[in-house]
Parts: sequence; C-alpha cells; structure tokens
Amino acid sequence: MCGIVGYVGPKDAYDILIESLKKLEYRGYDSSGVALKTNDGIFIAKKKGRISELESDIMDVPTSHLGIAHTRWATHGAPKDENAHPHTDCTGTIAVVHNGIIENYRELKASLAQKGHKFTSETDTEVVAHLLEEYYQGDILSALFKILPLLKGAFALGIISLKEERILAVRQDSPLVIGLGSGENFLASDIPALLSHTKEFVIMENGQVADIRADHVDMYDFDGDDIPLKITHVDWDEAQAEKGGYDHFMIKEIMEQDQAIKNTLLGRVIDNHVILEELTPLQEKLQKTERIYITACGTAYHAGMVGAYLLRHMAGLDVEIEVASEFRYAKHHWHDNSIGLVISQSGETADTLQALRLMQADGIPVISVVNVLGSSVYREADASLLTQAGPEIAVASTKAYSTQLAVLYLFAIYMARLKGLLDNEAEKHILQELWNVPEKVRVVLNQAHTIREIAQDTYKTNDIFFIGRQLDYMLALEGSLKLKEISYIHSEAFPAGELKHGPLALVTSDTPTIAILMQEDIMEKTISNVSEVKARQGDVFVLAFERNKKALHDIGRWAFFVPDTLPLLGPLVGIPVLQLFAYYNAVLRGTDVDKPRNLAKSVTVE
Ligand code: G6P
Repeated sequence: MCGIVGYVGPKDAYDILIESLKKLEYRGYDSSGVALKTNDGIFIAKKKGRISELESDIMDVPTSHLGIAHTRWATHGAPKDENAHPHTDCTGTIAVVHNGIIENYRELKASLAQKGHKFTSETDTEVVAHLLEEYYQGDILSALFKILPLLKGAFALGIISLKEERILAVRQDSPLVIGLGSGENFLASDIPALLSHTKEFVIMENGQVADIRADHVDMYDFDGDDIPLKITHVDWDEAQAEKGGYDHFMIKEIMEQDQAIKNTLLGRVIDNHVILEELTPLQEKLQKTERIYITACGTAYHAGMVGAYLLRHMAGLDVEIEVASEFRYAKHHWHDNSIGLVISQSGETADTLQALRLMQADGIPVISVVNVLGSSVYREADASLLTQAGPEIAVASTKAYSTQLAVLYLFAIYMARLKGLLDNEAEKHILQELWNVPEKVRVVLNQAHTIREIAQDTYKTNDIFFIGRQLDYMLALEGSLKLKEISYIHSEAFPAGELKHGPLALVTSDTPTIAILMQEDIMEKTISNVSEVKARQGDVFVLAFERNKKALHDIGRWAFFVPDTLPLLGPLVGIPVLQLFAYYNAVLRGTDVDKPRNLAKSVTVE
C-alpha cells in the first residue's frame, strides 16, 4: 500500500523524509521517491526497489526545508522507476504523491494530452500534476480547489509547488495525518511514520484539504470553507504504532476491510455496469466460455468456492473447482470453450502457480484474481483482476479473502452480462447492493466488542463446529479455517445436511456449533439441523440477517445479526463476524495471532 510523507520546517527535509518513509516500509512497497524544493528547482529522485536503493542512487542531496516522499505499491503501471512517485507537471515545478486510485484518469489523461501535456508514466497519479499545471495561476491552493471536482475515486495527495512554501494535502478515502511540531509540520499516511517527531496529530477526514506551512496549518472542505483543526494526542509505543494502534496486524487488517472492499470496487462499477477492462483482450473467448476451472489454496480456495457458486447461479456456467495441490495432479478431460480462474493473495503459491501453468500448457487461457501486482501469478496469467487489499501481513488471511470475494462478484456479474442472463435492472440492483456492502461491513466491525463477549464463553472449548448450506456452508469453511489457524481450537465445517451422517456423533454439551442462516430459501432446513445439535445439549451460535432477528433471536445461545442485504452477498457481510470470532478466541487463549505455529504466509514450496 502506498505511503506518503511530507516535511516543512527549518531542519533538513531529506533526512526527515527518508527516516519517516522507512517507518512506512511495513505497509509493503515496490518503489520509492522524493521531491525536494530547492533554490534551483524541484529536485526529484525515484527508484524501483528498496528505499536504501533510492538513497544510494542520490549522490548529492540538495539543501531543502520542504519536501514530499512516497513508497509505491503498484496498481496502475508496473513497478519501475518512471512509475514511482513523485510525479510532476510538464514544467517540473509542481510535484505530487498519491495513495489510492483516480478512477477517471484515462479520460482526464486523454483530454490533457490533447491540450499538449506530455506524460512520462503509466500511472493514474500523473494526471493530477498536469491538471494542477493547467489551472495554476500563482496559487496552488486555488488550482487545487478547481481540480478537485474533476477527480473521481479514492485519493490521498501530497502536493508541492516550487513557488510556494507549503505542502497541500487532500484526503478522499485514503488515510492521511498531519503531525504538528513547533515551527515545523509533517504529513504522513499514518501516525507511526511521525512518532519520533511529534505526538500531536490532526487525523484528516474524507473531503478535507490541508494547507501545511512551517508555522501553521489551515484546513478546508472541498468547497474551500474553513474547518477547525481537531488535534489528537497519541501515546503509542513503537510496536503498537506499526500496527496502527492495534494489538495485532490481523485485527488491523480485519478492521480495514470496509475500505479494502471499496478500493476493489472503485473504478469497476460505472453507471450501474461492471467494467473489467483487464478482460477486454479475452472478451471474445469469454463470450464463448461454457466451463470454468477454478483452483487456489487455503483461504483463496474458499473464496473460489463462492465464485463457483456465483458463476453457476448467475452466469449459468459449468464450473469445476479443486484445491490447487490436487488439481495439478488430477486427470482432466478439458472441455472446449473453457477458461481457468486462479485465485491467490501473494501470487507466489507454488501449487496455484503450477495449476495455472498446467492449464495454459493445455491451451486453456487463465484469468487470475491476485493481490500482488508483478507477482508470478500476475505475470503469467493471460489476464489478471487485482484485488486492492494492500499488503496483508498477518499469516491468517482476512482482507485478501473479502476483496477476492468482491472481485468474484464483479466477475460473475460481468459473465452473466456477457451470457445475456442479466438485464440492466437486475445488474443495477445487485451493484447497488454490492456498493453498499462496505458500509454494512463497517457496521459489523463496529460491534467487535459483542463478538469478544461471545468468545469469552467459547475460548476454553476444544472443538467448535460450523454448519451451513450452500453459500452459508462456503462461509462456514472459511470461518472454521480462521478459528483453527490462530486459536488452535479444533474446528470443522460441515454442510448442515451432513451432520446426521457422522459429525453429530461428536456433538456434546462441550462442542458449540456456529450455524450460519443467511440463505433464506433453505434456512428452515438448517434450523432443523440446529435442533439436532440442541437435542444433544450442544450450544449454538447463530449468524443471520437483521430482518430475521425476531424469528431467530432465541434459537441459539448467542446470535449475531448483520445488516440486511441480498442473501447472495451473505459471505461478504458475514465473514467479518467469523474473523472477529476467531481473533478473540485466539487472543483469549494467548496464541501468537499474527504468526500461528507451523504456518507460513506464502507457501512457495509444494
Ligand atoms: C497460506 C496462507 C493462507 C493462504 C494460502 C494461499 O496457507 O497461510 O492464508 O490462504 O497460503 O495463499 P495465496 O497467497 O495463494 O492466496
């Protein structure tokens, strides 16, 4: 995930910028760069690779007391020197760093190019520098207010202009904080970057602009109206700081999911239609596609199961799905008009990569759903749909899963359209519901304390079962995996109907069961299975939609109701509950949550 820092004050800007940038390394990045205002112009240095490579590339650091710097996590344009930030206008007197996505950059770029602007990168960010140049008449803040209405998407921006002693900052969906010093001020994507300089922060909110000078900071809304500064005092130690004040990366990543899902949808839902430009080269092939082979490992495989369901139900496709470690050794009778779909957070999982190669060797084009641009899966797939989860550090995957789901919903809608199975109205309806998911996920995340209370009751248990049907079962699998991975409580997920074919023998008063009841068309059937568990004195935890609260509030010992949406979207709003449940059970048991025993984040061996 990109990182931004900025400094204005009497000290040497370069040292402060580099030191602060290094504190953002944990966010993950592939290139870095710095822009310094000097007496001879704006000095720019940028480099693919580590920050240390940028440092060794700069022979003479010019004297400067004002600058911005950036670590880039590639989204538009491969990781290379030209695409690294800062980006400048044609005159090299305005420099911009950016975190997020300018959704409409293609049209902006086209119209700027027509006016004669020369672009030197493939990034969406560069349009901002050229737009500012277009409107600049001696005051960069006035130019900024003119271009803000033209920008669509998510953006945190840091901007400097050669002629002015100020840093401008803009926040729209991507985080930014201002660090307040005495006679100096700072800008950063997050608090840890600046903690060695100050404990006083202004945490910018969406729709705010800051004008940061050495001796004062002014804040405005996008219309240019003043906003009073809200100062927060932060007292974190360094370890807490890296995790954004949370105890573990895992909870930080769980809590980031509303934003991660939103980032993944941004730029892909336009005028109530799904736009997946990445698939344009395969469009003809996709039109003829009748069968899809899905493969992945671990959590990504569970996301794939949801994808398979969606593609079958919405796009009428024949789908085969298997974990990659089996898929690669299985006997396949490939069908004509087939495509492969591989899913991977890291893009480096050995089995997934081999499964991808196997399909391609037999002439099957492969689409990947992947989080890391430039990874092996990304490079080798015929087309890739990037999830925009940002780096995931905890071994147990959370935001990668929910963003994989978000992409799979988009892909299923896209395929349903191609197959003529979704009319405009139906597409609009589901997209509106999908667009509202991040807000509903936030509602769930805000109730983390309720789930912690439930975990107080379960964490001493040795076995916990999960049951559900169809999408609820697929969600159950992921909930159960999370729980066993990090809490070491033995857990299994069963299709609810299978309970009496074996697992019921294990149910006693010591084995709680989590029953997922979000697929309302088959809910009654699962309720019968809940009764079977209760008849064996098993405790039941119910996960369902708010609209069914009246009917379901007392069927289990505990119940959690998520905001209403389409049952089809149940996995997206339900998963945070199960992740939080796993997390709090693990915390209460005192396990190493971020690095569970025997497990690795990226499994690059068979
Ligand atoms: C490991 C990780 C899991 C992940 C799986 C697949 O087992 O611990 O969290 O789901 O690999 O990884 P990928 O990077 O391909 O999604």
